[in-house]
Amino acid sequence: MYGRSVEDPAGFWSDIASEFYWKQKWGQPVYTHNLDIRNGKIDIQWFKGGKTNICYNCLDRNIDAGNGDKVAILWEGNDLGRDATLTYTQLLARVCQLANYLKSIGVGKGDAVIIYLPMLMELPIAMLACARIGAIHSVVFAGFSAESLAQRIVDCKPKIVITCSAVKRGAKTIFLKDIVDDALTQSAQNSVKIDVCLTFENESALQKQMTKWVEGRDIWWQDVVPKYPVTCDVEWVDAEDPLFLLYTSGSTGKPKGVLHTTGGYMVYTATTFKYAFDYKPKDIYWCTADCGWITGHSYVTYGPLLNGATNVVFEGAPNFPDAGRCWDIVDKYKISIFYTAPTLVRSLMREGDEHVTRYSRKSLRVLGSVGEPINPSAWRWFFNVVGDGKCPISDTWWQTETGGFMITPMPGAWPQKPGSATLPFFGVQPVIVDEKGVELEGECSGYLCVKNSWPSAFRTLYGDHERYETTYFSAFPGYYFTGDGCNRDKDGYYWLTGRVDDVINVSGHRIGTAEVESALVSHPQCVEAAVVGVEHDVKGQGIYAFVTLAEGVSYSEELRKSLIKVVRDKIGGFAAPDKIHWAPGLPKTRSGKIMRRILRKIASNSLDELGDTSTLADPTVVDQLIALAHS
Ligand code: WT7
Repeated sequence: MYGRSVEDPAGFWSDIASEFYWKQKWGQPVYTHNLDIRNGKIDIQWFKGGKTNICYNCLDRNIDAGNGDKVAILWEGNDLGRDATLTYTQLLARVCQLANYLKSIGVGKGDAVIIYLPMLMELPIAMLACARIGAIHSVVFAGFSAESLAQRIVDCKPKIVITCSAVKRGAKTIFLKDIVDDALTQSAQNSVKIDVCLTFENESALQKQMTKWVEGRDIWWQDVVPKYPVTCDVEWVDAEDPLFLLYTSGSTGKPKGVLHTTGGYMVYTATTFKYAFDYKPKDIYWCTADCGWITGHSYVTYGPLLNGATNVVFEGAPNFPDAGRCWDIVDKYKISIFYTAPTLVRSLMREGDEHVTRYSRKSLRVLGSVGEPINPSAWRWFFNVVGDGKCPISDTWWQTETGGFMITPMPGAWPQKPGSATLPFFGVQPVIVDEKGVELEGECSGYLCVKNSWPSAFRTLYGDHERYETTYFSAFPGYYFTGDGCNRDKDGYYWLTGRVDDVINVSGHRIGTAEVESALVSHPQCVEAAVVGVEHDVKGQGIYAFVTLAEGVSYSEELRKSLIKVVRDKIGGFAAPDKIHWAPGLPKTRSGKIMRRILRKIASNSLDELGDTSTLADPTVVDQLIALAHS
C-alpha cells in the first residue's frame, strides 16, 4: 500500500476518499501542489471541486449505515461517579440543536467561532455544529490566559465565543467564564466587540447564580440550545473550504493561526486513525489529549467519529483522585486503544507499578504515544507494565501543521524499536537534509523535511501566507521543513531528536521562547529576557529563563514569583518558567545577537561544553552567569 501511495497518490487517495459521502465528486486533477518557493506561491489543494461535509460524514453517514444506537461518546467527569453517554443518534441531535442556534444568531459559512471549553461533551458538539454549517471553529485550550484568548479573538474576529461557567480539574475549580469576561473586555479595547457569549452551565463546578453576567451579551446554553430542532440541514462545502483554525506557537511572539481545510483533512485523519491504531468496530478508544490541541481535533473528535468509533472524553486530571485513575477508566469502559503523551507515562511511572497492576487492563490491545520523543525507559515501562508486554505502541510523530500522523508504526505490521516513530505513513515522503538543504541518503542525521504534499497538510497561516512561506518553505527550498531534527538508522527507521528552532516542548505543549520572553519583559522590572529549554524528568523539557533586571533592582524571591505570575497571566499556567536565572548581562555577539547555545549549556550545567566564547562582545558575562547559577 505504501508503494502505491507514493507512486500513484491521486489513485491511492481517491479510492480511499470514495468511501466517504460527497454531495458532488471532486474535479481533476485530484490534487495540485507547489511546494517549491522558487516556482512561486506555495499552494496545496486536494479534492478541489468536491462538495462534502465532515460533520455529515462523522454522524449522518454512520447512522445511515446502521450505527445510530452505537455509543459515540463515553464521557467521564472529573469527579468519580459522574459520567454520561451519547449514541451517534443522540450526538447528531445535540449537534443539530446547537447548529440551528448558531444559524439563528447569524453564524454561517466562513464565519469564525471561538470555543473556549474544557473536555465536556459540549466541546466536540460545538466543533461538529460549526462544521455542519460551514463555520470555522477555533478552539482555544482552556488553560490559556485571558490575554492569550483575547489575542486570538482579535486575530480571527469570531461572531460568537462559546464557553462554560467553570470546570473542576482534580481538586481545583477554574472559573472559565471570568477569564472569558476579562478577554472580551481586552478584545473590545482592541476594537473587536463580541456580541454573544454562549455559556454552558457546568453545574458540577459552579452554580449558575455565582457566575458573573453581562446582560444582553451572555446567554446560557441550557436556556436556548435545547429549544431548537434536532435536525439541521447540512451546508455542503468545497473540499478546500476552511474547517478550522488552530493557533500554535512559533519562533516569534505572535501565535500562528494554522488553517486546515475540509476534504483532505477528513480523508487523512480517518485513514491514519484506522491504520495506526489498527482500529476495529468493537474497539473502545481513549485519547487523553484535550480538544484545545491538534491531537484532540484529529484524534478525539474527527478521526474516531469518522470511523464510527466509541470514544472516551475525559474531563479530569489523570492523577485524580490518585495515580490509578487512568487504569480505573480503562477497566470501567474496557478500553482497547489508549493514546497518550510521554509526559503522562513518565509521571505515572514515578508513582510506582502498584497503581497500574491493581487494575486488570485486560481489554488493552494497542497503546499510542504523541507529543515528543518517548525515551526508551518510559517506552519499556509503558509496554511492559501498562500493556503487560502484549500491546504494540504506536509512537506517532506529527504536528499541528500536518493535521494527522506522518511517521508512525502500524501495530503488529513491522518490528518496533523503543524510541523510534518507525516509518512514514501512506503517501508521506520524509527526507533528511543537511544544513545546506542537501538530501541525505541511508543512515544519517539532519533536519526533517517532507518532499510531497499529503491530504491534511495545512494550507496557510490565517491572514499571513507570507509567514507560512517563510517559516516552512524557505529554509530548504523545495521541501516542507518541520522544525525537527532527526536521525535515520540503517533499517530506514526515523528517530526524532526534538525541535531545532526556538520552540520548546513542555509536556507535549508547544511554547515559543519568544512568547515567554515578551511576557517577562512586560514586567516593569525586567528589561531583557532569554528563554531556553532544559531537560526535565517528567515534562520532557522545562522552561529556563534568564532575566536582566532594571537598573538598581535587585533579585529577590518576591520578584521571582512576580515574574512567573506575569507569564501565567500573559500566556497560561502551563508556560510558567521552572527556573528564573538572574542575568546582569546576557552573552551576545558583537552584533547584539543573544547566543542561546551558551545559555543552553549554562542552563543544563554542561559547563565543559561551552565552546568558543571569544566571539562574544563581553566574554566575562559567562563567568558571571555561572557564578549566579548557584546563588
Ligand atoms: C512537535 C509538534 C502532534 C500532536 C502534538 C504536538 C514534537 C510530536 C512526536 C513524536 C517525537 C514528537 C515534534 C513536533 N512531536 N509528536 N511522536 N516523537 N516528537 O503537536 O504542538 O504541533 O508539536 O511535537 O517536535 O514538531 P505540536
